[in-house]
Amino acid sequence: MTLDARGLPVTAHCDAELASIDWFTRRLARIDRGAEAILEDAKSFPGSPMIQLGAASFCLFGQTRGADAAAADYLAAAKPLLASATEREQHLYHALSLWAGKDHLGAVAAFEDITTKWPRDLLAVKIAEFIYYILGQQHEGPRFRAHMQRLADANADDPDFLATHAFAQELCGDVDAARQMAERALEIEPRNPWAHHCVAHIYLRRDEQHDGVRVLESFLPIWMSVGRVIHCHNAWHLGVAYVAQLDRARALETFAHHVWGITPELIVEQADAIALLWRIEMAGEPVMQYWVALADRAEAHVDERYMPFLDAHFAFALARAGRTSALEQLEARVDERAARNDAEAHRSWSPVGRALIKACAAYAKGDAKRAANLLDPVMHNVTVVGGSDAQVDLFRQTYFRSLLDCGRKSEAKAYWSAQTAGKTLSPLDQQWLRSAA
Ligand SMILES: [Fe+2]
Repeated sequence: MTLDARGLPVTAHCDAELASIDWFTRRLARIDRGAEAILEDAKSFPGSPMIQLGAASFCLFGQTRGADAAAADYLAAAKPLLASATEREQHLYHALSLWAGKDHLGAVAAFEDITTKWPRDLLAVKIAEFIYYILGQQHEGPRFRAHMQRLADANADDPDFLATHAFAQELCGDVDAARQMAERALEIEPRNPWAHHCVAHIYLRRDEQHDGVRVLESFLPIWMSVGRVIHCHNAWHLGVAYVAQLDRARALETFAHHVWGITPELIVEQADAIALLWRIEMAGEPVMQYWVALADRAEAHVDERYMPFLDAHFAFALARAGRTSALEQLEARVDERAARNDAEAHRSWSPVGRALIKACAAYAKGDAKRAANLLDPVMHNVTVVGGSDAQVDLFRQTYFRSLLDCGRKSEAKAYWSAQTAGKTLSPLDQQWLRSAA
């Protein structure tokens, strides 16, 4: 039996195929440059099931209809190879097919089954982590953490696994365990943007020494040399940290140099750019010059439904740019999605997503009262819409601002006091609490 660098069974006809699989797994795990080479390798090795499946998984991270279509082609290429493939490759095909079919609950269970059989399967770990994100990473935090704890002994000194396990700890609010694991990951491998990402999340919860911004700034040169997706997202975290410090100028500078306009076709960049600009505006004055370009990108997704988290961002951008008909179309499509009789409609789109998306559009249009009314019954369960804890903070901030802006001051103060309990209060938190007093 052929084994890859992690000791996992794999079908490989030559060393070059094995090298491709090992390279892809390691680059994907820390979101480093080079993971995209799997698409070229899929052309070089059409008879390798694992490379075809790797290419399918890479595309499925794209979160667009076009990326899904490309993934379907790779899955179709893998299918006839399965008869002579390993059991692990057959399981991976099944799990990826569920993911491609948008059965996220089924897919994540299938990836959990894979790591039960093969606890060192870092590719399955990384995909599961992403599907928890689609399902709401804070909402799924306990499940994510239990999954990582089950695999901890088998991956004890792996810096990429440690960075992922640390993130699961952070999502569950265990800052000390998260910090310890992230530091261990960075001791083993300092050039690890996913461990840096966990550090950024930790600082959002706790920053007693007020050194979060300085530490994140020190990582920025490394982020510029890694995968664009994590360069963008980690820079988004730095921008969020500047907003929390009320340093709007640096937040806008980070937005322009590191977050928006570099790979604007990537959905991660679109969502992070919308979210950062939205936060910058909530912390100060409107910034109008970017909304037209962001709304252009949002319009391209009006007929796609991925997760409510993304649609809330697109609705906000469309509303800020005054794209009335596109926004109406998006809201109608969201209503249709929420009315479907499937697990995700019942779980997220109908009970929370639909109201959240409309509330974000209302807030963007200046109707704070409608936004607050729409958000009142759904905020307790808002983590179900997708995104991480830090990303869902955007909606919590929007709810606070809506309450404040429509004159429900005491409720605004009570809400933000509860949200920041146990955290290091930022200058923005302090300003907001004062303005609600
Ligand atoms: Fe993040």
